[in-house]
Amino acid sequence: MKTNRVTIHTLRAQKQRGERISMLTAYDATFARLLDEAGIDVLLVGDSLGMVVQGHDTTLPVTLDEVIYHCRAVARGATRAQIVGDMPFMSYQASIEQGLVNAGRLIKEGGCHAVKLEGGAQHAPLVERLVACGIPVMGHIGLTPQSVHQMGGFKVQGRGAGGREKLIEDAKALEAAGAYAIVLEGIPAVIASEISAQLSIPTIGIGAGNGCDGQVLVIYDLLGMDESFKPKFVRRYESLGIRIRSAAQAYIADVRDGTFPAEAESFSLDEPVKATTPPALYSSGAAKAK
Ligand code: KIV
Repeated sequence: MKTNRVTIHTLRAQKQRGERISMLTAYDATFARLLDEAGIDVLLVGDSLGMVVQGHDTTLPVTLDEVIYHCRAVARGATRAQIVGDMPFMSYQASIEQGLVNAGRLIKEGGCHAVKLEGGAQHAPLVERLVACGIPVMGHIGLTPQSVHQMGGFKVQGRGAGGREKLIEDAKALEAAGAYAIVLEGIPAVIASEISAQLSIPTIGIGAGNGCDGQVLVIYDLLGMDESFKPKFVRRYESLGIRIRSAAQAYIADVRDGTFPAEAESFSLDEPVKATTPPALYSSGAAKAK
């Protein structure tokens, strides 16, 4: 087992030292490798894959087998980051037994180090059982996308009467049940700060202000893959949507006018075969054809 892997203990120590935790979503081995090399602490194989990878309007259609498939890819790409697998809609809500079996599959088949599930106090008994079985659990409260129809849309939570109290109660119930961290999504910054101060486990915010112990974003949002999607809480560090489109347009033009491939990009009859490293092998179909 690798010794430099980020664990639940690393993250708790980070909180104690006041060192903020960085978390991003990843859905494949290439992104996992790049983000791992960049030094990310936690990679979440989020059910957001239903929206950004599969093109659905919500996360609800995502299946456990699909999350496992993406977890396996991410697990192959990252050597340092903790990998968290998201429990998709209706993979844990029907019963504790169902949640145990399905979380176990994320660990056994997906290669994750922890699971994340949405919901507060109502899932505390499941969290307790999972932790007793040796499965670390990250909670997720506030704007919980699997309850989009109950919430009437992707809306900030906790503003109404009793909202603050309910969020604090949920966070404390998850901590008491043994959760090692909690995602706080789409809640007023002042409530997120209060929760973070009251818990000994780390909070990871998304649309929850600067008072959390860490932050998470969907990698496609950070990279600006979709120019039409720019909610208030996202900071774009790139405009890859525009750049990918323009790279593809340049390629299409080169193919159409016959300037790609050039001689330097073509194989000759007598060229000696060069050894290639594994990343080059999987990033280039042509290398396999040598
Ligand atoms: O599915 C996901 O990517 C998430 C994060 C946005 C926290 O749950």
